[in-house]
Amino acid sequence: MRRDDYAAANRDAWNAAAPHHRVHDQYARLVRGFAKPGFSCLDPTATECFKALGVAGRDVAQLGCNNARELLSVKNMGAARAVGFDVSVPFLAQGRELATLAGLDCELVETDIYKIPARYAEAFGLVFTTIGVYGWMPDLGAFFAEVARLLRPGGRYFAYE
Ligand SMILES: C[S@@+](CC[C@H](N)C(=O)[O-])C[C@H]1O[C@@H](n2cnc3c(N)ncnc32)[C@H](O)[C@@H]1O
Repeated sequence: MRRDDYAAANRDAWNAAAPHHRVHDQYARLVRGFAKPGFSCLDPTATECFKALGVAGRDVAQLGCNNARELLSVKNMGAARAVGFDVSVPFLAQGRELATLAGLDCELVETDIYKIPARYAEAFGLVFTTIGVYGWMPDLGAFFAEVARLLRPGGRYFAYE
């Protein structure tokens, strides 16, 4: 399969999955959670890792942010700027809904990870990905080159798989 055809098929599959996630109990739990100040969906291990990395006051980006539940949790931990990148418009719409509920300022950008606009180069002190992103990446070397491009000198990358 050509690379462009794969990217389109991958995006279409995520878009098709989004409405099913929207009506799932897990999403209802997020809606209830983010209605409360300071909510986090992160498990204790991820929470400790983010604390150790020093998320408070940092400009943070998530690659493959899905409905932004984790990015919003990181924002609730005190991140300064929070930017999520994902190829799926309907999942990002869910993220915007959760951000509005939580009253959190979070920038959610529709883009392929391999095509993140140049204005985000060296914009972040912390970039992270969590479970279920690497498997969809057709070129992991190019993926990590993107991570490096987004990080400021001295920035950190956190993978939680
Ligand atoms: C399994 S989900 C991530 C879920 C997230 N770890 C969580 O627990 O909430 C994978 C996400 O990666 C996104 N994705 C897959 N390939 C992508 C690509 N090439 N560029 C941007 N986003 C992509 C999908 O749209 C989907 O939202």
